[in-house]
Amino acid sequence: MEGAAHEESERESGVEVSGGTAFAPGLEGVVATRTRLSMVDGAAGRLLIAGFPVEELAGRASFEETLYLLWNGVLPDAGQLEGLKRDLAARRALPEAAGEVLEAAVAGGAAPIDALRMAAGTLAPSGNDREDALTSVAAFPAIVAACWRLSRGWDPVEPDPGLSHAANYLYMLSGEVPGEERVRALETYLNTVCDHGMNASTFTARVIVSTGSDLVSAVVGAVGALKGPLHGGAPGPALDVVFEIGRAENAEPVLRERLNRGERLMGFGHRVYKVRDPRADVLAGAAERLYASDADGDLYRLALEVERTALRLLEEYKPGRNLDTNVEFYTALLLHGLGLPTGLFTPTFAVGRVAGWTAHCLEQREAGRLIRPQSVYVGERGKKWVPLEKR
Ligand code: ACO
Repeated sequence: MEGAAHEESERESGVEVSGGTAFAPGLEGVVATRTRLSMVDGAAGRLLIAGFPVEELAGRASFEETLYLLWNGVLPDAGQLEGLKRDLAARRALPEAAGEVLEAAVAGGAAPIDALRMAAGTLAPSGNDREDALTSVAAFPAIVAACWRLSRGWDPVEPDPGLSHAANYLYMLSGEVPGEERVRALETYLNTVCDHGMNASTFTARVIVSTGSDLVSAVVGAVGALKGPLHGGAPGPALDVVFEIGRAENAEPVLRERLNRGERLMGFGHRVYKVRDPRADVLAGAAERLYASDADGDLYRLALEVERTALRLLEEYKPGRNLDTNVEFYTALLLHGLGLPTGLFTPTFAVGRVAGWTAHCLEQREAGRLIRPQSVYVGERGKKWVPLEKR
């Protein structure tokens, strides 16, 4: 097929073959890399993180152990774990430029996720990938916490070198040393979202590093990709809906109204999972424990009812699309139970996912192959130049 007819066919069918290269809109089904970091089985609803089922790892590992696992492929021994904790503690203090950028961002009314992107951009690449990985992971919670406190008119809280990564995050946010239950809940969350195959932000990070660029640039770009509501930006809106519903009997009318307007229900559906996202179960369990001990049990029960109703209505409105609960629904509930405002949900996702981004960058560096797909040209051809006065 040649020229216009070929292009027309491509536009109509969505998936076509051009010059022997399959065109896959959204890169669906395209395998761009090999990874040992995570395996997402969308049909079975399984997630492996560096060999561990997410259910096995997330509730047991400290975030530092997961980080070590991603970066090195094995769990650390006691000495290696202490070394990693020391390395992170040494990099938690933010550069002066980050503080200045955060103050300007907050004064300008920037959303915390934008402030994170801006302040992460002040981290200076060192020329050493492992150093940059440590710096990025250590700095993210410090940036988000400082941004949050500045936006409330409070001074940032200095990190406490005696606290774990997750505990430090909660400490730098609130100024109070968190209890074990809350740290465990946050670590379970961070571990659950640390990596997830070739998702959009991870792909972004790998593309940037594949050009020979540095890890700081890669994680800054990844934050931009994570922000979108189709990726990491969903949990805030997901919780807003639960609040709007307020009482169990309102679930059906409110959700119906949204579906009737053609809106998507946030926290449901996934590009890869066509069954329940396994991360939703891990986080639902963590949220149930947290709410039983430390938060508003009524909200947890309401959320369960909203989920049940949403799944029933999605099957009615979108039969056969296999739309099930995704990670964002219970993320919202868990992070709310930890006292985090919705504006910090996506930045907190970044605090966990930066582990995977940096690990993928290290892997991509080893692969050493520029990521450079092709496009199918559907524009006009052979046009003749028209001088300005004749247009
Ligand atoms: N609510 C209502 N309808 C939906 C939803 C939803 N949450 N998700 C998909 N659909 C519908 C689509 O409208 C489409 O309907 P159609 O066939 O009548 O056109 C059909 O289901 C298939 O949808 P696609 O757009 O092909 O699915 P895709 O794989 O592109 O979408 C996505 C995945 C973007 C996550 C989608 O399910 C969505 O928008 N969900 C809501 C946002 C959300 O929760 N995002 C977080 C994802 S998890 C993460 O990234 C960490």
